[in-house]
Amino acid sequence: MNRLIIVSNRLPFALDSAGEDLWTVTPAFGGLVSAVEPVLRERGGTWIGWPGTAGEIPQGPLAEATRDAGYNVVPVALSETERNEFYYGYSNEVIWPLFHDLQNFCNFEPAYWHAYKQVNERYADAIIRSARSDDFIWVHDYHLMYVAQALRERSTSQNLSALTFFLHIPFPPSDIFSKLPQQRRLLRALLQFDLLGFQTRRDVRNLLQCVRRVMPEAKVVSRAETHVIRFEKRKIHVGHFPIGIDFDSFENGARCEAVAQRSQQLRATFPDCQLMLGSDRLDYSKGIPERLRAFRNALERYPELRGRVVLIQIVVPSRVEIPRYHEFKDRIDRLVGDINGRFSTSMWIPVQYHFRGLDREDLLAHYRACDIAFITPLKDGMNLVAKEYCACRIDQYGTLILSQFAGAAEQLKPDALLVNPYDIEQMADTIVKAFRMSPAECTARMKRMRRMVRKENVFWWVDSFLAAGSRLARTVPRRRRNL
Ligand code: F6P
Repeated sequence: MNRLIIVSNRLPFALDSAGEDLWTVTPAFGGLVSAVEPVLRERGGTWIGWPGTAGEIPQGPLAEATRDAGYNVVPVALSETERNEFYYGYSNEVIWPLFHDLQNFCNFEPAYWHAYKQVNERYADAIIRSARSDDFIWVHDYHLMYVAQALRERSTSQNLSALTFFLHIPFPPSDIFSKLPQQRRLLRALLQFDLLGFQTRRDVRNLLQCVRRVMPEAKVVSRAETHVIRFEKRKIHVGHFPIGIDFDSFENGARCEAVAQRSQQLRATFPDCQLMLGSDRLDYSKGIPERLRAFRNALERYPELRGRVVLIQIVVPSRVEIPRYHEFKDRIDRLVGDINGRFSTSMWIPVQYHFRGLDREDLLAHYRACDIAFITPLKDGMNLVAKEYCACRIDQYGTLILSQFAGAAEQLKPDALLVNPYDIEQMADTIVKAFRMSPAECTARMKRMRRMVRKENVFWWVDSFLAAGSRLARTVPRRRRNL
């Protein structure tokens, strides 16, 4: 097995300055980290990434944070300007909204692109310093789409066997992608990888459609699920690899005594109520206002829900320096206030709202205690919360209401109740459907979803991606590998 080198913007922890020479280390939150971390812990290897702090990286706290990781960590430093223009700027004010089909939220500031290229070049240099010629190099996510191009511009990149990339977020349809000022430069950069992995078939279709339109000199050859792009005398393989979770770790975690007790406590706090859970990072792509409006609509139109359903909404602070995220939080606060103001009684408050991350035990207890998970992103690469919820339902009970625009819908659609997050009344009707669902139907659906989530777990995801990458490494001509 070749050594695995993971390259992503974020390391699995963040260092925060807490005053002079004082640093706190917090685990990073999000799909990429929660999927990749267990894999590196199991297999070993190297993780190249940014520890979340601008400026020089403090060596002592870094050593402390990585001592028991079980793999090597190579930190990449970003200056404050780079953090603002590369991370907040191009990555999260251009690519993030555009790739989630929210082009009105984009800030196409030209300086951002230059910072993006520059930081991607820094990552390429870190790879060259850390990698051997037979290492498996796996670059992750939208922050680093230019890395292969930067590597190829450096002659030493010829020593690397195969360069692979996985996009955790959706890839947009071509009419949306065409709004990007750097559309051709970005696609050309992506085509410098040897393998491009996406979450769903829809993302693959979108990428191929963009290549056909924007890069007419590239030739796309598709046979069933196998897609190859011929470009500049190279072959780029494209496939979909839906990311999974570490099912056993969630299931075992949910079984432990502390989680069982906390979950009972939660249930006892809301006697005679069905509990419905929403859990998201603070992000406008997650459809939180739409979800709250749907709940309000359901309470208006279906009085039987009043006093009988509680929505527990967890919002984890994120990207707080982007103004749009502030405005978005205000919108959520106002909606929660409106619902609770209108419908609360002395015995019942409809929305329990937490603006903070829960620790793992508490999160698992929420998954165990809640009868319904209500997950409504406007668009999402996969949405691992949906899968985590299923893994923690050790009682085989629970209903999943899921946006049709989450990547997870492709795998869970026969048994999750799919909704269009833009259709408030349909979502409200679906809440009632979940509320009234018979225990037998609920269990049958949950059993099937658990089977799927257990089988197509994170190790299956890694194995299928690595297998595709290794086949490729064998076909990359030796000449190119050892120049
Ligand atoms: O894939 C999207 C992603 O990279 C996930 O890992 C996670 O949901 C989120 O974005 C993390 O965002 P950030 O690194 O900006 O905190």
